[in-house]
Amino acid sequence: MLLFDDAKRHDADRAMVLHALFPTQDSIAQYAAWCRADTVKLIQERSWNYDGVPGTYMDVVNGILNNTAIHFVSEKILGIELKTKANPRGIHTEREMYEMLATLFRITFLSFDEPESKFALNDAAFRAGVILNLLNTKAIMEVAPSTAPNAVGRIIAGARSLIWPETEKPWYPFLSTIASTGRPLDELIGNIVGLGIASSVTIAQGAVHTVDFYLDDARAKERAEIIRLVKKDDAQSTELLQGYVREALRLNPPVPGIWRDVAVDATIPQGGNLPPIKVKAGDRIWGSFRTAHLNPDDFPNPYTIDPRRPKASYNLNGTGFHMCPGTTYTQVVIAEMIKPIFGLKNLRRAPGDAGILPKYQDIIRETENTIYINRDGTTGPWPPSMHVVYDA
Ligand code: HEM
Repeated sequence: MLLFDDAKRHDADRAMVLHALFPTQDSIAQYAAWCRADTVKLIQERSWNYDGVPGTYMDVVNGILNNTAIHFVSEKILGIELKTKANPRGIHTEREMYEMLATLFRITFLSFDEPESKFALNDAAFRAGVILNLLNTKAIMEVAPSTAPNAVGRIIAGARSLIWPETEKPWYPFLSTIASTGRPLDELIGNIVGLGIASSVTIAQGAVHTVDFYLDDARAKERAEIIRLVKKDDAQSTELLQGYVREALRLNPPVPGIWRDVAVDATIPQGGNLPPIKVKAGDRIWGSFRTAHLNPDDFPNPYTIDPRRPKASYNLNGTGFHMCPGTTYTQVVIAEMIKPIFGLKNLRRAPGDAGILPKYQDIIRETENTIYINRDGTTGPWPPSMHVVYDA
């Protein structure tokens, strides 16, 4: 859907995907509960101790939050079995899946004006796209044999589904609903893989940004309040916690902005004391999410954290025709993912470099961008590992 500016095609795709993803009013709450439970499981499985050193350690990025998001997208959307200890017959590990989705996200959303990385990115994205499309094709045909493009395929897929029924698979509800639209296989795959790309690494990064933001000493007061809220866990406390998530994403956003091509001559009001901007059809303009969310007209005292600001002021996932349908989902799910983390006793950064996300701020198009430094010295938009400690 993201690739189509033709309203008829775009709207039909969007409706198909969203009906399958959110079939009931409590779908978001169910997904959020699933992600929370997975985070709890990962904390138990992936924490470790050092001999003679107090505290229990975990890599909150690569060990926990990235994996919750990857488990969700693989199991609930793409229908891809990961290679894990419990499932050694899976083809790709959690890390490989994360890297493929991150590459595809970067080429789709972030790299329009990065000629220096475009060649390598194109190559990596092509390979990742082929793999995810093939694995997703297999999953769709197994769930809905009638989608196979020829008679032989339909017979084989049908026989297989009789012997090994797919109805118990975690991806069955989403894939079977979307396949029941009768749309051609290539259109289904394009939409499903597109959704997988848009909804995975973004959630992981948003959750990491939130945890990192509130672990800073400068935010000790807010952290204490978050710890109080996650213990209460009632609807009102959760709503306030979502306000803290919005504030972290506003001041530490995963996606700093987006490009737009101007369709007709127009004037864009900027608010505050800034003059309106005149744009002409054919101009390419950069909408800076980060800067817009510091506009005192919409966010009085913009650098102050206030979880009670009106929800409607935020447009962190874009707006308009291609507006992200995952905006509420993002806030609800991240709040549930961070509950078990901030619920850990005496949670703090690990000592030394391991406890800090190596990063620097670069001003690109008048917008502050967070650039992460990977452990091998390369740089990019994705947070590398960060260790935290708690008292078990
Ligand atoms: C921190 C989390 C997220 C961020 C920062 C984010 C950001 C964005 C942005 C900037 C766009 C393009 C908007 C535009 O062009 O105006 C977008 C589109 C989209 N996002 Fe998200 N997103 C996030 C989470 C999600 C989630 C959880 C889902 C799935 C439920 C999702 C699904 C989509 C889809 C399907 C589109 C394309 C919509 C269309 O073309 O109509 N996103 N997102």
